[in-house]
Amino acid sequence: MTVKVGFIGAGHIATYHGKSLRRSGADHVIAAVYDVDPTRARAFAQASGAEVMGSEEAVMAAVDALYVCTWTSEHPRAVMAAAACGLPVFCEKPLAITLDQARAAAAAVEEAGVINQVGLVLRSSPAFLELEHQLADPANGRVQAVVLRDDQYLPVQGIYGSSWRADQTKAGAGTLLEHSIHDVDALEWLIAPMRSVSTRASTFHGHPGIEDTVVSSMEFVGGAQGTLVSVWHQLLERPSLRRLEVICEHAFITLEHDAHGPVTWIRSDGSSGSLEGQELRAAVSERSGGRVPNQDRGFVEAVATGTAGDHPDLLTAVRAHEVVDAMYRSAASGGNAVMVG
Ligand SMILES: NC(=O)c1ccc[n+]([C@@H]2O[C@H](COP(=O)([O-])OP(=O)(O)OC[C@H]3O[C@@H](n4cnc5c(N)ncnc54)[C@H](O)[C@@H]3O)[C@@H](O)[C@H]2O)c1
Repeated sequence: MTVKVGFIGAGHIATYHGKSLRRSGADHVIAAVYDVDPTRARAFAQASGAEVMGSEEAVMAAVDALYVCTWTSEHPRAVMAAAACGLPVFCEKPLAITLDQARAAAAAVEEAGVINQVGLVLRSSPAFLELEHQLADPANGRVQAVVLRDDQYLPVQGIYGSSWRADQTKAGAGTLLEHSIHDVDALEWLIAPMRSVSTRASTFHGHPGIEDTVVSSMEFVGGAQGTLVSVWHQLLERPSLRRLEVICEHAFITLEHDAHGPVTWIRSDGSSGSLEGQELRAAVSERSGGRVPNQDRGFVEAVATGTAGDHPDLLTAVRAHEVVDAMYRSAASGGNAVMVG
């Protein structure tokens, strides 16, 4: 079955998904697009072959599955509209600008019983999948501590080319919700659920309600402790980058760069190693049936077969929203420890 997909929102991330779909080999056609900015819709259509539609409803009527790639405040409404039409939906993260709206969007797709997926892309990053593999080695002993630094330039410039991330009514908040929702999801996936968080946040760039500097101390079930540093700076020379260090009883494992590594490890049994780039992709691919996991191929295949794959769904994202919400409540109290529900 060739899956006809449509896009609501035709900016930076829609373009990324369009290219990823093409590269993925998934049996699909990008059939329709709508953007409130017709120039963006036309540019996307030219690159993807989609037909430009005059409304969101016209896109939904023309396709088998919908990508929601608008700025964040529009996500829950568009997801609920897709669910009401019985359409499978891929929603970009964050699901919404509030926890309640994120829960409502997830409830709508669950109730409608439609295939649904969320753009928590670190779950299909070769580097993070390699880290997951390294952490599964019993020779490591237990995870004692994790340090994660996530920094990028304030994304209202450079490759982003949009200003909505400085507007609280559209973005909800700053670096923690908009970017580090990926981090809290990855940390719980890789280590354990968080039990409590203590967070402090500040703003250097002066956009009301948009924090750009966050440090959170996290306690995980099982006793591991962690620190998340999430920063939006003004260093345009530096792309979005992460560095993770995981310290176990008998291993020290690091990850750099969101996708390509290197991932390095050293264990007290004397073993050590490092994987990066093509070598890293090959190792991940070998463990995944000869294909590096791809969120877009996963979505199209789930729609074609009517069976959810193993990519994260909206309920998974709700959990990340709950953690982020606890972090914001802690920051609002000046850093008090807040239990994660
Ligand atoms: N998964 C990731 O790693 C990742 C990366 C970047 C962005 N995102 C998320 O994707 C979303 C979009 O980000 P972006 O960088 O593509 O922003 P963008 O500004 O490049 O694109 C958003 C587009 O949505 C359009 N739009 C807004 N409201 C609309 C509506 N009601 N109907 C139709 N079009 C509408 C805008 O005109 C704009 O063209 C955000 O929620 C962002 O957090 C996720």
